[in-house]
Amino acid sequence: MKLWGGRFTKETNQLVNNFNASISFDQKFYRQDINGSIAHVKMLSKQGILTDEDKNAIINGLEGILSDIESGALTIGDEYEDIHSFVEATLTERIGEPGKRLHTGRSRNDQVALDMKLYTRDEILETDALLKELLNVIINIMENNTETFMPGFTHLQKAQPITLAHHMGAYFEMFKRDRDRLSDIYKRMNYCPLGSGALAGTTYPLDREYTAELLDFYGPTLNSMDSVSDRDYLIEFLSALSTIMMHLSRFSEEIILWNSNEYRFIEIDDAYSTGSSIMPQKKNPDIAELVRGKTGRVYGALMSILTTMKGIPLAYNKDMQEDKELSFDAFDTVKGCISLFTGMLNTIKFNKSVMENSARHGFTNATDAADYLVNHGVPFRDAHGIVGQLVLFCIEKNISLDDMTIDEYKAISPVFEDDIYDAISIKTCVDKRVTIGAPGKDAMEKVIEINKKYLEEN
Ligand code: ARG
Repeated sequence: MKLWGGRFTKETNQLVNNFNASISFDQKFYRQDINGSIAHVKMLSKQGILTDEDKNAIINGLEGILSDIESGALTIGDEYEDIHSFVEATLTERIGEPGKRLHTGRSRNDQVALDMKLYTRDEILETDALLKELLNVIINIMENNTETFMPGFTHLQKAQPITLAHHMGAYFEMFKRDRDRLSDIYKRMNYCPLGSGALAGTTYPLDREYTAELLDFYGPTLNSMDSVSDRDYLIEFLSALSTIMMHLSRFSEEIILWNSNEYRFIEIDDAYSTGSSIMPQKKNPDIAELVRGKTGRVYGALMSILTTMKGIPLAYNKDMQEDKELSFDAFDTVKGCISLFTGMLNTIKFNKSVMENSARHGFTNATDAADYLVNHGVPFRDAHGIVGQLVLFCIEKNISLDDMTIDEYKAISPVFEDDIYDAISIKTCVDKRVTIGAPGKDAMEKVIEINKKYLEEN
């Protein structure tokens, strides 16, 4: 059953077997392991290291194992040490002698490095595709809400009026950068470690370029010691995943706030909400809360691998087996969070009038009132002080700037004329913000065009 019994005279302690084995989690990449082996034997036979006959027997055997695992006819037994042992032992059981030639010119060190890379590479692509779906939902909300006014906040205090399109646009940029990070990582990691052997290459005349090509890598890795001990790409990917979760978590936090009884900016669809077992009136934003909560465990996976790797001398050490469980958990967690979040966002109802009303009450147009004075020759610092007095007046009377009479305005500064009302209307405040990146409708529409083109091209 073991790949390494020869030099041992005693049975391994059962607890050691359990502690050492990785089959319970590395079976997740059985497909990558089998495909890697198929590429390896094709290369071996091309190089004359394996006969055509053996090659064909092995490939048939491996393909049979793959389809039997997928159909459920073959179960991966936990009596094996790892997925590599399981595949090789099953192969030999099924095809005899040729099965024992599969591992020629290979070590489990370069094999596992390959499997994990192949697995992670697929995960990068799947995560990217999910982010793209999320971006499609966001751009759709943006297109429909360039005139849905709402307050923008700093310090969670109403600051200046913006639009829902503008607010959503901020998240669009974040997830766009996240996708960029993924494609950077892919470019850096897509080199094939197979053929590096245990650490020092092999004495067989392997064609590593060919193996790399068969497995869709850009080429072979260039140092065999680095190849078997590099997990940088995992650290980078987990870091990118942590950033995605940080973005999703901030977004979730806003969804939770906006969905609260105090804000009522949005209503989460029934299909994405949950109830309380005791309080009949409750409709809770559990999905957003769970996304926010799960961020912690993705950060945990990143911290774990950073810590695992920091003291490991070259080359392979068993510590590195610890790269898998938390990574797999993080990969699945992030994919689940993006899909659920996308579904939730796509079905949210925006209470546009509540949002707009909130922008009207809260002095989000105070800066624009000061700008009005500046445009009439008042120095900005003085204008700031005058508008401060207006705000104080309004707070005392419990009204907004728009509700003040022109006489009340003039009593504080004679510079004010009737056109102040238009100058501080929420629509004017937004539309006057025309520089690229600002919420004004024209600027926003330009950005939406740029981002739609980006989605078509990426
Ligand atoms: N299960 C091992 C891992 O995940 C496979 C490599 C084993 N190599 C070795 N030299 N023991 O890292």
